[in-house]
Amino acid sequence: MYYFLLLLSAVLVCGQQRKNVLFFAADDMRPELGAYYGADFPSSIHPDMHTPNIDALAAKSLLLKRAYVQMAVCSPSRTSLLTGRRPDTTRVHDLQHNWRTVAGNFTTIPQYFKENGYRVAGHGKIFHPGRASNNNDPISWTEPYFLPSNDHWVEESRHTWWAASKTKTDQYPLIDQQTATAAIETLKKLSAKAKTGEQPIFVAVGFHKPHLPFLFPEELLKLYPRESIRLPKNPHAPVNMPEVAWTDFSELRSYKDINTQYGFGGINSTLPDDVVIDLRRAYYAAISHTDDLVGQVMQALEDEGLSDSTIVSFWGDHGWQIGEHGEWCKHTNFEIATHAPMMMHIPGVTNSGVTTEVFTEFVDLFPSLAEAAGLPTIPLCPEDSRSIATCTEGKSFVALASNPTQPWKLGSFSQYPRMLIDGNLVMGYTVRTDKYRYTEWREYDGLMFTPIGDASGDVELYDHVKDPDENVNVADKAGYTEIQKDMKRILRAGWRKALPVM
Ligand SMILES: *[C@@H]1O[C@H](CO)[C@@H](O)[C@H](O)[C@H]1NC(C)=O
Ligand SMILES: *[C@@H]1O[C@H](CO)[C@@H](O)[C@H](O)[C@H]1NC(C)=O
Repeated sequence: MYYFLLLLSAVLVCGQQRKNVLFFAADDMRPELGAYYGADFPSSIHPDMHTPNIDALAAKSLLLKRAYVQMAVCSPSRTSLLTGRRPDTTRVHDLQHNWRTVAGNFTTIPQYFKENGYRVAGHGKIFHPGRASNNNDPISWTEPYFLPSNDHWVEESRHTWWAASKTKTDQYPLIDQQTATAAIETLKKLSAKAKTGEQPIFVAVGFHKPHLPFLFPEELLKLYPRESIRLPKNPHAPVNMPEVAWTDFSELRSYKDINTQYGFGGINSTLPDDVVIDLRRAYYAAISHTDDLVGQVMQALEDEGLSDSTIVSFWGDHGWQIGEHGEWCKHTNFEIATHAPMMMHIPGVTNSGVTTEVFTEFVDLFPSLAEAAGLPTIPLCPEDSRSIATCTEGKSFVALASNPTQPWKLGSFSQYPRMLIDGNLVMGYTVRTDKYRYTEWREYDGLMFTPIGDASGDVELYDHVKDPDENVNVADKAGYTEIQKDMKRILRAGWRKALPVM
C-alpha cells in the first residue's frame, strides 16, 4: 500500500498523469480559416476570414495543412475517422449503414478512451446520428449523451441561410450554442478529478455548422460586408471532366429558396451571381459562428485549470464547394471536397505551433490521439481486419510535431461512390500527391465492397502545379502519359505502399 501511494504521488508530482482530451468536430467546414491563409497554400480562401479562436488554437497546435478525408460525406467520413479504418473496410458508404453490423465491431476513438479508464462525454454531432450510429453509438460513452434541439428554428431551417436575431437567440439558443453550453457544464462537472489526475476526461463537442442551413447570429454578417464577397474565379466544370465526377447538389436544392427555381444542378448550370454571393457570405458567417463557440469552450477549459493537461483536437468532417466549378456541397472527389481542417494541440509539445505540409489522412487521427495521450499503441490493421476490434489503417502523425518536414506519406487516398443511370455502381478512387490528383471511376461490387475487374473506367488527372483549382482534366493528354502511368501505379498500389519508409 505504501509503495502504491508513493508511486501514485510520484506520478502526480512529475505531472505524468494522463492527459485529458477535448475533441472538437465541425460539420462541412473546409479549411476556410485564417490559419490556412498564406502564399504557400493555393486555395480560394476569403482573405479576411474572422476565425480568431480556431486560429489561436492552430497557433499552439500541430496544424496539418494537407489532411484529407477518406470520403467527402458525413457518415462515411466520420465512421472512417472514428474507427481509424477506410470506407471499404468500414463498409459505410452512405448515411444508413452502421459499421458494427455491416463490417465488424470496431472500437471507436471515444470508446478506446473509455476502455482506458477515461470519463467520456459526447455533445452534439460526433457520429452521424440515427441508424448510421445506432443513435450516437452508446458503446462509446460513459456519460449521458447531449443532443441539442432545433424545435424553435424549424421554419428558418427551411432556408439555405438565415441571420438569427439576438432577441430570438437569447430566448431560444441555436443548436450549436446549446451544444457549447452543455459541453461547458460537463467541463465544470468533471474538472475536479481530471485536474488531479484521479480520472482523466475525454470531452467531445460536435458542432453542426457550417453545415446547411447556414443559421447564425445576425451580428456575424457585419464581419463580411456584402461588397467584399467575391465570386469564385472558376464557375465552370473542369474541361474534359467525365460526367460521373459531378454531383447535382440536391442537398442545396432541398431548401425552399433554391429548390428548382434555378434548374436541377446540371453541369455548368450554376446559380445566379447574387445567390452565389449570398451563400458564400452566409457560409463564412456560419464558420465564424463555429469559431465563436470553439472560443467559449476553450475559455471554459482554461477557467477550469485544464489547459495545461488537455490535448485539443479539431477537425471538420470534409470540405465544401461554394460555387467553384459551379458546384455546391460535398459529394465529390475534388480537392475542395476532400481537403478539410485538422489540428492537434499537445500540451508541452506543440505550444509554439508547428505547421506541416506533408500528406496526412483522417484515418490517422485515432492512432495519433492514442499516442499523444500515452495510451497503448493502435496496431496497423492486416488486410482482412473484420474480426479485429482495435487496429488502424492510418498512421500516427505525432512524430511530425518534432520534425514536420520529414519524408512522410506519398499521398492521400479518398473515394466516392456513384450510382449510374443504368443502376450500376461505380467507385471513384482518388489519390492526391504533391503535384497531381488522379482519379479512376471503377465498376464496383456493392456486396463485396471491392472493384470489379481491372478496368479503370473514367479517369481524371489534374496538374496541381499548373492548375491548383482543378480546372482542366489532362488525363490521356499529350505530355502526361508517363505521369498518368505513375499516378495509376500509386493509386492501384494503395495506401499501404504510400506509408513512409521507416
Ligand atoms: C461490441 O464490442 C463491445 C465492446 O467490447 C461489446 O460491449 C459489444 O457487446 C460488442 N457487440 C457485439 C455485437 O459483439
Ligand atoms: C462546362 O464549361 C467548360 C468551360 O466553358 C467547358 O470546357 C466544358 O466542356 C463544359 N462542360 C460541359 C459538360 O458542358
